[in-house]
Amino acid sequence: MNRDHVRPLIAVLGLTAVGWSIAMLISTRAAAQQPRPAAVSQVTAPATQAVPTPHTWVGVSSCAATSCHGRTAPAGSVAAEYTTFITRDPHARAYEVLFNPASVRMASLLREPMRGKPAHESPVCLDCHAPGPHEPARRGRDFDRSFGVGCEACHGPAGDWLNPHTTAAWQARGWQGADEEFKTGLGMIATKDVALRAAACVKCHVGEPGRDVNHDLIAAGHPRLTFEFSSHHARLPKHWRERRIASDPRPRDRDIHPDWDLRVWAVGQIVSARAACELIAVRAATAGSDTGHQHVWPEFADFDCAACHQPVRPPALGARVEFGKTSGELLANDWYVGVVPLAISHFSRDQSASPLVRDLMAQLSQPDSSSASVVEAACKAVVKLKSLERRSVTTALDMPAAKRLLRELASPPDASAITRDRAAQIVLALQAVQRTVREQPPTPADVLIEQRLRELSVTTTITPGVPFQPIAFASQLKRLCESLD
Ligand code: HEC
Ligand code: HEC
Ligand code: HEC
Ligand code: HEC
Repeated sequence: MNRDHVRPLIAVLGLTAVGWSIAMLISTRAAAQQPRPAAVSQVTAPATQAVPTPHTWVGVSSCAATSCHGRTAPAGSVAAEYTTFITRDPHARAYEVLFNPASVRMASLLREPMRGKPAHESPVCLDCHAPGPHEPARRGRDFDRSFGVGCEACHGPAGDWLNPHTTAAWQARGWQGADEEFKTGLGMIATKDVALRAAACVKCHVGEPGRDVNHDLIAAGHPRLTFEFSSHHARLPKHWRERRIASDPRPRDRDIHPDWDLRVWAVGQIVSARAACELIAVRAATAGSDTGHQHVWPEFADFDCAACHQPVRPPALGARVEFGKTSGELLANDWYVGVVPLAISHFSRDQSASPLVRDLMAQLSQPDSSSASVVEAACKAVVKLKSLERRSVTTALDMPAAKRLLRELASPPDASAITRDRAAQIVLALQAVQRTVREQPPTPADVLIEQRLRELSVTTTITPGVPFQPIAFASQLKRLCESLD
């Protein structure tokens, strides 16, 4: 990705009664900040090297012809990918939302970082909602942002592969070794590979340097990003098939991998954690500097929202126990790392990433740690997690192991002091594992487990004005655990 267009987001933070003491604490820590350590180049360098030649973006309409991907046929049919995308995929509407009242309000509150531009013209928003190069020379004649998150956002800029990929010679090449290298060299992303598929999503759904939903955007009204690959992948309207059919016997994801749902969950955990740690490293390392992507440090989005935002209501007992901590205690945001140790322990013999991730969270939560030490801890975690990404895909998990994982997830230590984020991640993981182990047709035990999972998922869903009840969650989880016997 070209980073020239990155616009620094300047802090527009004023202090209110909400969490002022924490903010004071943090600004003392910010003052003690140290210069940018060399360790960060470890994290930023590979990202830059990943794009050797700047490929051209041709735009969605180049894929949409009836004879190419625009056939009129039921969603998911071969050659109807564009048809499925344009009629069902939320990504096709991602540009449109930049005109809605919420976006207009965000643009007015973020006037400075957006340089006075409306949302649909500012790279701050476009880079995730309608990506593509900002230099006209790298855009084909038909490139049009109004298609939102188009084909090339996930499949790679097509300038160099659009013509070749229609030939029989291309089709004859698969996605192994030199063939994969050849195709990715032309800019195509190997989306058949689960890890690379997840890596394509996290660029926008977790963020990366230059594409960042930080606390400024959140306070201006942007939804907080809580990506979880297995559930997002399940919700995405598919323009591809997950199983082979008689008329097209090529093996698909679920034919190749019997542990598909579990694999998607585990790989998604590792890739998302890597992306989140990378973002923490870069936010901390470039804070206040003029390296092109400027960040404020500490970045409030890296902390548990509830550390500062407690409901200012009468002593709502539920709300106070809600987070298992007394209000005012700073906690790192662990959405992306809370359950990743479980994914690692089941998919890899190399367990060394987990303590590194825990160390990073501990560093973040300590009021007196410097940005330099956070950068160092984050870089170590990134390097280790990166080394697990591709490797994890080759490990297959058998059914007994999956059942053990189900039980482990359902019996976390201190369930009654759990945060909502952790609880939600546990439920999403349980759903993915249960989808893997359920029998076909489902047994009465499956039906019962799935019923209990639905109850749990209601408890973790955010309902305005209704605080999360960790004790109720813990007892529901216990009931689920009992039904696993
Ligand atoms: C890092 C990528 C990223 C950036 C930067 C970003 N967004 Fe988003 N935005 C998303 C994602 C991903 C979602 C979907 C969130 C979800 O549903 O979980 C979203 C959702 C939204 C929504 C809610 C959409 C709906 O259907 O209700 C609005 C509105 C929005 N963004 C506007 C903006 C504006 C305006 C900007 C620029 C100030 C912006 N976004 C910058 C990634 C981004
Ligand atoms: C949000 C990401 C995303 C977007 C946007 C997207 N795709 Fe895909 N596409 C995928 C994933 C993931 C797969 C499944 C993995 C694979 O088969 O490579 C896929 C599969 C495909 C396949 C292979 C289908 C098969 O049967 O093997 C084609 C062809 C395709 N996409 C074309 C398109 C076209 C054309 C567009 C734009 C109109 C598009 N995609 C937009 C993510 C995306
Ligand atoms: C270029 C940025 C980008 C990429 C890459 C991307 N998305 Fe999105 N995605 C968005 C934005 C922006 C939205 C919000 C669209 C809206 O609300 O109109 C969104 C919305 C979604 C939604 C609907 C919101 C929800 O929570 O149900 C799902 C599901 C989703 N994306 C899954 C994926 C998956 C899976 C991948 C990878 C295969 C992916 N996305 C890749 C930017 C992206
Ligand atoms: C370190 C303390 C701190 C953390 C952590 C924090 N915030 Fe904030 N937040 C503030 C302060 C101070 C304000 C008021 C200033 C502002 O608008 O930026 C605020 C403002 C907001 C606002 C705007 C409120 C309004 O009435 O306009 C929203 C929404 C918000 N935060 C959401 C979040 C979310 C979601 C998270 C977690 C991802 C989070 N905050 C984490 C301190 C924090």
